Amino acid sequence: MSFKLSIPLVLSLLASLSAVSAQQCNATSLCPSSAPCCSEFGFCGTGSFCLGGCNPLGSTTLSSCMPEPVCQNANHTFPDLSRILTNATYFDGNATKYDWVVNQGSIFNTNSSGGELAMILTETNGGTRLSSTRYVHYGTITARLKTGRWGGVVTAFITMSDIKDEIDWEFPGNQTTQGQSNYFWQGYVPQKTAGETHGNLTDTFSNYHDYTIDWQEDTLTWLIDGNPVRTLKRSDVTGSDGISRYPSTPSRIELSLWPAGINTSAPGTVEWAGGMINWDDPDYKAAGHFYALVSSVTVACADAKTNPANAESYVYGKNTSAFTPEIDVTNKTTVTSGAAPLFASAANVWSALAAGAALALGAVFA
Ligand SMILES: *[C@@H]1O[C@H](CO)[C@@H](O)[C@H](O)[C@H]1NC(C)=O
Ligand SMILES: *[C@@H]1O[C@H](CO)[C@@H](O)[C@H](O)[C@H]1NC(C)=O
Ligand SMILES: *[C@@H]1O[C@H](CO)[C@@H](O)[C@H](O)[C@H]1NC(C)=O
Ligand SMILES: *[C@@H]1O[C@H](CO)[C@@H](O)[C@H](O)[C@H]1NC(C)=O
Ligand SMILES: *[C@@H]1O[C@H](CO)[C@@H](O)[C@H](O)[C@H]1NC(C)=O
Ligand SMILES: *[C@@H]1O[C@H](CO)[C@@H](O)[C@H](O)[C@H]1NC(C)=O
Ligand SMILES: *[C@@H]1O[C@H](CO)[C@@H](O)[C@H](O)[C@H]1NC(C)=O
Ligand SMILES: *[C@@H]1O[C@H](CO)[C@@H](O)[C@H](O)[C@H]1NC(C)=O
Ligand SMILES: *[C@@H]1O[C@H](CO)[C@@H](O)[C@H](O)[C@H]1NC(C)=O
Ligand SMILES: *[C@@H]1O[C@H](CO)[C@@H](O)[C@H](O)[C@H]1NC(C)=O
Repeated sequence: MSFKLSIPLVLSLLASLSAVSAQQCNATSLCPSSAPCCSEFGFCGTGSFCLGGCNPLGSTTLSSCMPEPVCQNANHTFPDLSRILTNATYFDGNATKYDWVVNQGSIFNTNSSGGELAMILTETNGGTRLSSTRYVHYGTITARLKTGRWGGVVTAFITMSDIKDEIDWEFPGNQTTQGQSNYFWQGYVPQKTAGETHGNLTDTFSNYHDYTIDWQEDTLTWLIDGNPVRTLKRSDVTGSDGISRYPSTPSRIELSLWPAGINTSAPGTVEWAGGMINWDDPDYKAAGHFYALVSSVTVACADAKTNPANAESYVYGKNTSAFTPEIDVTNKTTVTSGAAPLFASAANVWSALAAGAALALGAVFA
């Protein structure tokens, strides 16, 4: 399950936006050329709708979305917040400038352990989510983090593609001795057993652990502190119809702390997360927020050695169907052209994003 941004919204705002159409989109209902990009939340628009999360299969053409910044080996640490754009609305697609964007919520930086990123959840901010500016098309990703410890509050480290291939490490609510692995294929749970629990860890709130997603073309392995706890093979999820229901498309890394235990969540989501959030919790009262800490995120790209030296981006290739997207590595730029404002008002953009997110809320938990 992934964090659907959930800030309060005014749906009618959508109608007043010049560059956003209220039209919804998906692989069978494409955006019109006047608003060619199908956003992460399934709404047609231009500008930032064409950046991270833009769904090529729901857009006017496969090349309507901006190309996705190519994977680069890295060890992201957080001595300060200079590599993080604190408001994704202002991102221009330049992954050299920023490693992360904040899609929602707020962050701060502490000086402990060489610097760590704190993600904040308050009763009013709807939680915090960051996305990497670069995509990974197979690779080994490790997040060293400390989770929350409160019922209804979920800490997550996931990969998410623009057509909703998803691989998860999630830490629901008040369980601080275990983590959950999960995966989705194009937004669907391919098998009933997709979610699994792995545990007997020392307290995940007080101790850093390394959670790894080792995502290769034919094998997906989840690890804790370097020890494999689960393996999924592509062949395990390839049906007799020949369709491989295995995450296969370039994905951003997402880090989040999100409120699952709230009254707009589906009952199953609340239960999964450990109940409703107690906003009177002493930790919350003392700090004024709930939080989770990230010490580092390391990325080893599977294609780092094989990509051409001038590789800039991934694009969905000509020979693409919803079942078997073809991914090409190109030297096309990922940066939106010109400094012209993407929208009449950035505030409107944000509201539109939120509106899209909230509409998606009803369908959160399968
Ligand atoms: C795609 O979008 C159209 C238009 O909003 C909607 O009618 C249809 O149900 C959607 N299809 C899927 C698979 O979500
Ligand atoms: C990433 O950098 C941090 C801080 O220098 C270090 O503690 C950690 O071991 C590094 N991780 C990897 C995989 O090199
Ligand atoms: C991207 O950002 C880097 C670093 O700020 C800058 O040097 C480069 O010119 C930018 N690229 C584009 C295409 O704007
Ligand atoms: C962290 O330490 C550096 C150097 O001592 C200092 O400049 C910076 O303000 C500190 N940051 C925080 C968030 O305390
Ligand atoms: C923890 O260890 C106990 C005893 O070995 C075992 O029964 C249990 O299944 C383990 N729990 C998890 C979540 O791995
Ligand atoms: C949900 O909770 C909020 C306050 O947290 C309250 O104002 C609202 O009435 C509640 N809604 C429902 C449907 O219970
Ligand atoms: C987690 O929260 C639920 C619901 O509030 C409670 O029933 C359960 O005992 C808690 N579990 C732990 C391990 O604290
Ligand atoms: C498209 O891909 C399919 C399956 O990968 C392949 O069989 C077919 O030949 C390709 N078509 C073109 C025009 O490249
Ligand atoms: C991209 O590659 C093509 C062919 O290899 C080359 O002609 C073109 O100049 C390159 N463009 C950029 C922006 O590097
Ligand atoms: C991003 O900027 C917009 C426009 O200034 C603002 O409405 C929104 O609240 C900001 N988002 C965050 C997470 O700060």
